Amino acid sequence: MSRARPRHARRLTAIGLLIASALMAPAHATLPLPPDVDSSALRPIVDPEGETNPYRDEPRAIAVGRAAFNQSCAACHGIDADASRSPAPDLRRIGRSCGRVPEPDLKRRCQTDADVYFRSTVEKGKIKLGIEHMPPWKGILSTELIWAIRSFVETSQGRAK
Ligand code: HEC
Repeated sequence: MSRARPRHARRLTAIGLLIASALMAPAHATLPLPPDVDSSALRPIVDPEGETNPYRDEPRAIAVGRAAFNQSCAACHGIDADASRSPAPDLRRIGRSCGRVPEPDLKRRCQTDADVYFRSTVEKGKIKLGIEHMPPWKGILSTELIWAIRSFVETSQGRAK
C-alpha cells in the first residue's frame, strides 16, 4: 500500500515527459519555419536599419503579423502569443511597462528600446553555451515581417499575465 503512491507518481512523471517530448519534437524537427503569408499589405520600409517599429498600431500589419506569428512562433511561444502553457517566454511582456509611462517622449524611447531588443533577438536567435534555444530568423523573416509580428504581439499585451 505504502509503495503505491511513489509508483503512481513515477508513472505520471513518465507520461508528462512523453507529452512534453511529443509537443516539442515537431517544433525542433522543422524549424525555423518561414511563414506562408501575403506581405503585400505591408508598406515597404523606408529605413531598414530603423530602430522603432514603423507599423505600431496599424491594423493591416497586425493582421499579417498575427498570421506569421501563428505559423512561425506559436509552436514555442503559444497560439496568439498566449504563452501560459508554452515552453518559451511570454513575448507580450516585452515593453509592456512602456504603456504606463505618462511622458510621451520617454514612452517612445521605452518602446524603441523594446523594439530594438525584439528585432535583434529574433534576428540572432537565442544560443546559449552552444545550445540553440531559438533559431536565428535573419534571412528567413524580412524586416517588414519582424515588425508586423512585433505589432501583433504588442496589441496582445493587455492579456499578458
Ligand atoms: C523552437 C522554439 C522557438 C521558436 C519557433 C521561436 N522561439 Fe523565440 N524563444 C524560444 C526560447 C526557448 C526563448 C528563450 C531563450 C532563452 O532565453 O534562453 C525564446 C526567446 C525569444 C525572445 C526573447 C524573449 C525574452 O523575454 O527575452 C523573443 C523576442 C523571441 N523569442 C521571439 C520569437 C519570434 C518572433 C518567433 C517567431 C518568428 C520565435 N521567437 C520563434 C523559442 C522559440
